[in-house]
Amino acid sequence: MATTYLVTGGAGFIGSNFVKYIAGRHDAATRIVVLDALTYAGNAANIEAEIKSGRVEFVHGSINDTTLVDSIFAEYDPDYVVNFAAETHVDRSITGPKIFSETNVMGTVTLLDAAARHWRLPDGAWWDGKKFLQISTDEVYGSLARDYDEAQPIDIPETLRELVSRRNDTPVSFGKKFFTEQTPLSPRSPYSAAKASADMLVMAWYHTYGMPVNITRCSNNYGPMQFPEKLIPLLINNIQEGRPLPVYGRGLNVRDWLYVDDHCAAIEAVLEKGTAGEVYNIGGLNEKANIDIVREVIALVAEYTGTEPRYDLIDYVTDRPGHDMRYAIDPGKTAAELGWIPMTAFSEGIRRTVKWYLDNRQWMHNVISGEYREYYRKQYKQTDRP
Ligand code: NAD
Ligand code: TYD
Repeated sequence: MATTYLVTGGAGFIGSNFVKYIAGRHDAATRIVVLDALTYAGNAANIEAEIKSGRVEFVHGSINDTTLVDSIFAEYDPDYVVNFAAETHVDRSITGPKIFSETNVMGTVTLLDAAARHWRLPDGAWWDGKKFLQISTDEVYGSLARDYDEAQPIDIPETLRELVSRRNDTPVSFGKKFFTEQTPLSPRSPYSAAKASADMLVMAWYHTYGMPVNITRCSNNYGPMQFPEKLIPLLINNIQEGRPLPVYGRGLNVRDWLYVDDHCAAIEAVLEKGTAGEVYNIGGLNEKANIDIVREVIALVAEYTGTEPRYDLIDYVTDRPGHDMRYAIDPGKTAAELGWIPMTAFSEGIRRTVKWYLDNRQWMHNVISGEYREYYRKQYKQTDRP
């Protein structure tokens, strides 16, 4: 029987990539309903082709709107709820934390509550084939130490290296520890604290009511259609505009970069094969220090545009308060149980990503609204530049 997906936040970065991924892999019998509030980060144009072709039903509204969410369950009877909808930018959570709890916590509760009302039978059992998937983040685990020197990162552990043996790279690590699904939650920013709260509520619906749920915790995604407040698209845009490239602190913080299509494949695997009540970590096995990303993006923009590399734009600015030092995911459980591995080496994914933004300057132009310019001016005022 055909499946109906309710994708909340489907006009944002990962959500819109996921919508395209599912639309491209399933025939028209598979229904995709997107619920998105179109905040500053949401862009319906990302999925315009799918909406116009009738492949996607688009509902403009909030996951906090109980009446609307109920009406969507009643009308479309979704099999899968994939909850991407969230406020997602750590820096914004520092300057304006309240909306992060409203959307990320209360919005998730509204969805859980509606799903329970529509998916639960009078005897307390659940309709077959239903699943609530909460898209969470590695940031709920807190911050790992960076035990290795910038100049001498080490090979990742043998067991993890085997997972990506078909990949054309030698992944490195900047520390001894990795996040596993057993790592205690220890969020440190208003963003990650709200995401961790939502995770605990999702698990409460599983334990209390038996709701079929999964949680995925992924590392930093990169790829097409990411809002340019996040590091990689911000760099590409600023290089093209000849603007400074703000590097927080000394640029030594480490993130584990996951190509967005690899993430979409993992989400599909969890929906189809994940055991109810389980958490799955999804990482790219692509640890990078921020400054190395900055240098790589500068070099690639120069290569693709045939211009001089703009290392002169690198601008060390005041560090983010409470800046988590290192994130690194051990995706071993997801690989062993679901057969998923992160196939995209960073060297390959970053080429595709830079090229996409250079080929889609109009997209960038359209998303950089007045609101974003105002945010940017406030966020980077310490650099004393426009
Ligand atoms: P994004 O900011 O690009 O998109 C968020 C989307 O949610 C936007 O389309 C926005 O309009 C929508 N939205 C916000 N509030 C809403 C509301 N009340 N009702 C309905 N829609 C609403 O985010 P993203 O990077 O695509 O992240 C998607 C999910 O993945 C989030 O839950 C985030 O916490 C998680 N995540 C992202 C990353 C990453 O690197 N981008 C890493 C780990 C986890
Ligand atoms: P970001 O893309 O905001 O993702 P997250 O905070 O969720 O990891 O930032 C990625 C890293 O890049 C993080 O260590 C902060 C750093 N960063 C900068 O150095 N300069 C910037 O202008 C931004 C946006 C981020």
